[in-house]
Amino acid sequence: MRTLHTIAELRSALAQPRREGRRVGLVPTMGAFHDGHRSLMRRARHECELVVVSLFVNPSQFNEPADLDAYPRDEPHDAAIAAEESVDLLFAPTAAEMYPHGFATTVHVSGVASGLEGALRGPGHFDGVATIVTKLLSLINPQVAYFGQKDAQQVAVVRQLTRDLNLPQEIVACPTVREADGLAMSSRNRLLDASDRRRALALQRALAAAQQAAASGERRAAEILAAAAAVLDQASLEPDYLALVDPPTFEAVSAVSGPALALVAARVGPVRLIDNQLLA
Ligand code: PAF
Repeated sequence: MRTLHTIAELRSALAQPRREGRRVGLVPTMGAFHDGHRSLMRRARHECELVVVSLFVNPSQFNEPADLDAYPRDEPHDAAIAAEESVDLLFAPTAAEMYPHGFATTVHVSGVASGLEGALRGPGHFDGVATIVTKLLSLINPQVAYFGQKDAQQVAVVRQLTRDLNLPQEIVACPTVREADGLAMSSRNRLLDASDRRRALALQRALAAAQQAAASGERRAAEILAAAAAVLDQASLEPDYLALVDPPTFEAVSAVSGPALALVAARVGPVRLIDNQLLA
């Protein structure tokens, strides 16, 4: 595996594979790799001839400077994991490389990006995500880009922007990887103490209650969400949101008549956790 820090190095490393028409897969990341990232790399390795992982803690998607500063960074550790997963190229640029002096363009996605995470994390969050993802897709020009379904709204935003900007890349959402007890993997899980770690399981149990209500024939969103809310309440968790949306548009649904996505976000101790579940 080669680690590249500049756009010039990246372009030069991609020139030959491009001439040979090799299938390129991109896994965009901000590092702090766990098994969820490994699963994206494995899928890309399985489906593509050249696997590029980007490792960039993107400042423009953080609304709070303190969150950006606190974000875990360990490039040697991440590089070792990417090498174990047989990644070909690790692209780890600096902020100045991606946002040089005079950078003045923002990709803004409305609609799908405006509610839930967009509303809670502030308008800059999905602008930052959309801008950096557009830059990475344009620079690397992979055939496929892999994202985790845990960040379901991010996937919907990226799909919307590739459609709207006529970008040719296929966007693949990979299933959420979970700890043995069901907690969705996140680099933030390590910040939970034993008691919060137990309470965190209520997020997945709440989604399971929503699933169960839908599976037993309940169609009304309010009733399905009430079943989920009761589980959070038992764990003394106050959700930032508990929502049922149409998966591609992220518009709230009032009744389930087709695929609907249940989403939850809640602060558990020092961290904010999110999870989601497709209701059939
Ligand atoms: O999901 C992430 O890690 C980031 O939002 C992404 C897609 C790499 C953009 O910075």
